[in-house]
Amino acid sequence: MEIFLDTAQVDEIRRATAWGVVTGVTTNPTLMARAGGDPETVLKTIAQLVPGPVSAEVIATDAEGMVREGRHLASLADNIVVKVPMTPAGLEATHRLAREGIRVNVTLVFQPGQALLAARAGATFVSPFVGRLDDVGEDGIGLVEEIVAIFRAQRLSTRVLAASIRHPRHVIAAARVGADIATMPMAVLEQLMRHPLTDAGLARFLADWEAARKGETEAAAARR
Ligand code: E4P
Repeated sequence: MEIFLDTAQVDEIRRATAWGVVTGVTTNPTLMARAGGDPETVLKTIAQLVPGPVSAEVIATDAEGMVREGRHLASLADNIVVKVPMTPAGLEATHRLAREGIRVNVTLVFQPGQALLAARAGATFVSPFVGRLDDVGEDGIGLVEEIVAIFRAQRLSTRVLAASIRHPRHVIAAARVGADIATMPMAVLEQLMRHPLTDAGLARFLADWEAARKGETEAAAARR
């Protein structure tokens, strides 16, 4: 399972890509607004920082507008993927953009039928929203699992991008059920790599090393 960062903060992306585990980025209008600055400049900068896909979402709600915006977003960098909401207009835009060879990520997917339609329309990625489903008492990871099973059974090549990830357990569960990608905020990525026993273990190793060195120094001084 690939790891994408769900952010438009350039400093976070720069820091995370240095670890060699992040292969793509997803943004949305909320994240772009939070990052501030000129959206096109921000997107171009992000696209240069990551090796893989960078999802940039359209604002238009009609198919014509989405296609127009999508073409423009895709022209900003080779690795920009157009993110389109799961609506009838979004499906039409997906179909039209895909026919032009532009990759589309269909977002705001909350049930398997939406994922199936998005795949049939030509989406390269579908984004089921795990955390937002859990928030309303539904089973976000269960949705990811079902979409993975459907795509496998139907031999659909559309990639399942688990989104709205809120904590490390979501990431592990998404990997277990076969998601192709999980996109997560920086805070979740940082939590994923930490454990208190790792920190305590390292502190202990370093303390033991220092104590041994001090002992050797003192023994050498006593011999002199
Ligand atoms: C997906 O690509 C979205 O940007 C994102 O995962 C939404 O997450 P949220 O529910 O935490 O806003």
